[in-house]
Amino acid sequence: MNVIIVRDYDELSKKAAQIVANEIKKKPNLVLGLATGSTPLGMYRELVKLYKKGEVDFSQVITFNLDEYVGLSPSDKNSYHYYMYENFFKHINIPQQNIHIPDGAAENIEEECRRYDEKIMKHQRIDMQVLGIGTNGHIGFNEPGDELITTTHVTKLAEETRKANARFFESLDKVPQYAITMGLGTIMKAKKILLLASGKSKAKIISELLGDESVSTKVPASFLLIHPDVTCIFDEEAASLIKGRGE
Ligand code: PGA
Repeated sequence: MNVIIVRDYDELSKKAAQIVANEIKKKPNLVLGLATGSTPLGMYRELVKLYKKGEVDFSQVITFNLDEYVGLSPSDKNSYHYYMYENFFKHINIPQQNIHIPDGAAENIEEECRRYDEKIMKHQRIDMQVLGIGTNGHIGFNEPGDELITTTHVTKLAEETRKANARFFESLDKVPQYAITMGLGTIMKAKKILLLASGKSKAKIISELLGDESVSTKVPASFLLIHPDVTCIFDEEAASLIKGRGE
């Protein structure tokens, strides 16, 4: 893993946006995997700025989001559809047909998962996948467990994840129990991965991830250790417990 440690969230956001923009310059029809949550918000803000300055063109970019809550329609303010349009897509020139997000309100969820994988497979694989990381080591909504599923599937959210995400909802009981997530296999097939982590709450999982050379389904992000092209951007707080960095 190539680990870049920056001062703070602002620098992390700028660095991540720069890396994504450079990939788009190299390949205008980049197949870009996207994440939601708090961490990539600044990256989206910076990418919008670069777009407005004419420094990046999204007209041929194809995006696939990692996940969506089951039961929330795209117009629901807590859906990742809503998040992506509000924070990114409505501010840039990406054509609607190039945007892919699993439909959490689909009548047949299993069928929706299959369709999602088929759409990804049409492009063979994702060129660059942006990832956040859960405090429990999840990536996408691939939660720790006895096994990990390779393809897009429905997953039961871990209580730790529901609690962490409750801040976006009125109350904990409003946080959905299930989500659709891209599987570990699809993520691992991405040519390049960009892993972002910011803040003290991520320090423990980041130190575990970098301090242990083993791979375990109990820490889904540990599989990134065997991916050939992962760039990590951590801010000082997220990196603060990495062994050997001193304090
Ligand atoms: P966060 O979520 O960016 O809101 O911390 C990351 C994740 O759960 O993958």
